[in-house]
Amino acid sequence: MFKTRITELFGIKYPIIGGAMHNLSRAELVAAISNAGGLGILAATTFENPEDLRMEIQRTRELTKKPFGVNLNLFPAMRPRGLDKDIELFIDEGVPIIESSGTSPEQYLPRIKEAGIKIIHKVAGVRYAKTAERIGCDAVTIVGFECGGHPGLDDVTSLILIPETVDAVKIPVCAGGGICDSRSFVAALALGAEGVVMGTRFVATKECNVHPKIKEWIVNAKDSDTTIIGKPFKLASRVIKNKPALTAQQMEARGATLEEVLPVISGQLGKKAWEEGDVDAGILSLGMAVGRIDKILTVKEVIDEMVNGAKEILERLKKEIG
Ligand SMILES: Cc1cc2nc3c(=O)[nH]c(=O)nc-3n(C[C@H](O)[C@H](O)[C@H](O)COP(=O)(O)O)c2cc1C
Repeated sequence: MFKTRITELFGIKYPIIGGAMHNLSRAELVAAISNAGGLGILAATTFENPEDLRMEIQRTRELTKKPFGVNLNLFPAMRPRGLDKDIELFIDEGVPIIESSGTSPEQYLPRIKEAGIKIIHKVAGVRYAKTAERIGCDAVTIVGFECGGHPGLDDVTSLILIPETVDAVKIPVCAGGGICDSRSFVAALALGAEGVVMGTRFVATKECNVHPKIKEWIVNAKDSDTTIIGKPFKLASRVIKNKPALTAQQMEARGATLEEVLPVISGQLGKKAWEEGDVDAGILSLGMAVGRIDKILTVKEVIDEMVNGAKEILERLKKEIG
């Protein structure tokens, strides 16, 4: 039995959240995570047309009767339109949970709360977790330096950030960054997290809509096959160490502006790479966990291994610790 404030808050069986992943977190993956007892999160802000977003929410609901959430990406560059309209659409569609990320969701909180939607805000530093608590978020996710997506600028790993965050706030904390199996799941819980958020592990699942060649790349990857770009522009991203990432780093090292680097790191090229399986076609966000993934599984197999493995680990620890 898994019972934490996160399972209670979101009405889920296991405290395992599939963090939003732009064009990858579509209905099939999101529903599979929720159906397996976790919480799937749809990446809402990546839909240019609000009606497409509405249809994807409805499609997800057709595929699962379990709770799922939507991600509100607050990075200014990620907003295709005013987010107020997206929030009204979530309310209209009866979405019960929002995962926000990027910048503070403070201005949107009154409307979100008034509608009875639960909100978990994702941050990459303890000070931002405190802000999330102060402004009234129900829970917070802390992501460490290992994570795919945006790890923040301070290069602090999950092993340090999780207990620091747990000590700094009273709201429940989820942990992300490097978590991919039962061992890392139990480790995060041992550090005080009440749930985990995973991205990279869910990319190498049968339900994820990326090209099989990308999944194979993950299976063969080493822990050192990702790197950080974007730090000079105060928007660090952990991505795979491919040709465009190395080009972007060389441009950054010689002082190129963001405008100059943008054509190399464009989301359109990344989308092509995910879809066509050409790992050098564009920037691909993935975390250090690529080095720990050696099989393409179904989402249910991933979650079952985490849950059953966790119980075995506890048995072992009971014997070892007493
Ligand atoms: C391919 C990919 C795309 C992502 N896109 C988003 C996104 O659109 N919004 C967001 O808040 N986080 C995004 N993330 C971060 C994840 O939601 C999650 O926080 C992170 O993957 C956890 O670390 P892990 O990759 O080590 O599991 C993305 C991560 C990956 C791997």
